[in-house]
Amino acid sequence: EQYRINIAIDGPAGAGKSTVARKVASRLQYIYVDTGAMYRAVTWFMQKEGISAENAVKVLQMVQNMVIELKPHENGQMVMLNGEDVTPYIRSLQVNAEVSRYAQIEDLRTHLVHLQRQMAMTKGVVMDGRDIGTTVLPDAEVKIFMTASVRERALRRFNELDKAEPITLEQLEADIARRDKLDEEREVSPLKKAEDAVTLDTTNMSIDEVVEYITAYCIVQMDGEK
Ligand code: CDP
Ligand code: CDP
Repeated sequence: EQYRINIAIDGPAGAGKSTVARKVASRLQYIYVDTGAMYRAVTWFMQKEGISAENAVKVLQMVQNMVIELKPHENGQMVMLNGEDVTPYIRSLQVNAEVSRYAQIEDLRTHLVHLQRQMAMTKGVVMDGRDIGTTVLPDAEVKIFMTASVRERALRRFNELDKAEPITLEQLEADIARRDKLDEEREVSPLKKAEDAVTLDTTNMSIDEVVEYITAYCIVQMDGEK
């Protein structure tokens, strides 16, 4: 049996974390865990139920009675809430607008971090988010802090859009900058590079280049751990 490690990938929106994490996981035959999808699914649910991010007590109560599952899928990952596939709903502009507010709720974070740690217990996990290297998996053998300029990140998101969506590049750039700020300035596990993380600026890198770099780095670390 090959030695398995955990890989933590953090960084701001649009840096390429999920695209790259999924491909690295597939190369190493590891499990990919998208923690942003968990915050997004909770946000979608609370919006549907009319529970605002100010009502932390009610949010926590609802979340404690919720079954959140991540299931591997052809192109990425499915998010199930109480047995229902909510993947198609969680990337909406409405969820984008409020997810960082819900993500500030300390008790919600504690609850999700606990679930995330359980998912990584067996090792062989590539997990991406904002606080993986600092809080969720401080002992991860590989930690990457992935960045890119705000402009480039907005452009990447813009190119993903169905052109019928009523949003401009400038609006996207503002949305991303606003979310970065909320994520960096929140009190509980803010978006921050772990001291022992490697910074990777992907502004001028292709997806394949980033995947190559990280996979090679992981293989070196695995050999070291043997
Ligand atoms: O895909 P994108 O980078 O736009 O965002 P995401 O990774 O799906 O995360 C959405 C939001 O969830 C972030 O802006 C954070 O507010 C929150 N989040 C978090 O607080 N901690 C994590 N580990 C992952 C996401
Ligand atoms: O997960 P995160 O928000 O960090 O970013 P993502 O959703 O993985 O990537 C955002 C978009 O940028 C995707 O459409 C990727 O295909 C694209 N991308 C890119 O063009 N070049 C890279 N080096 C990485 C991602």
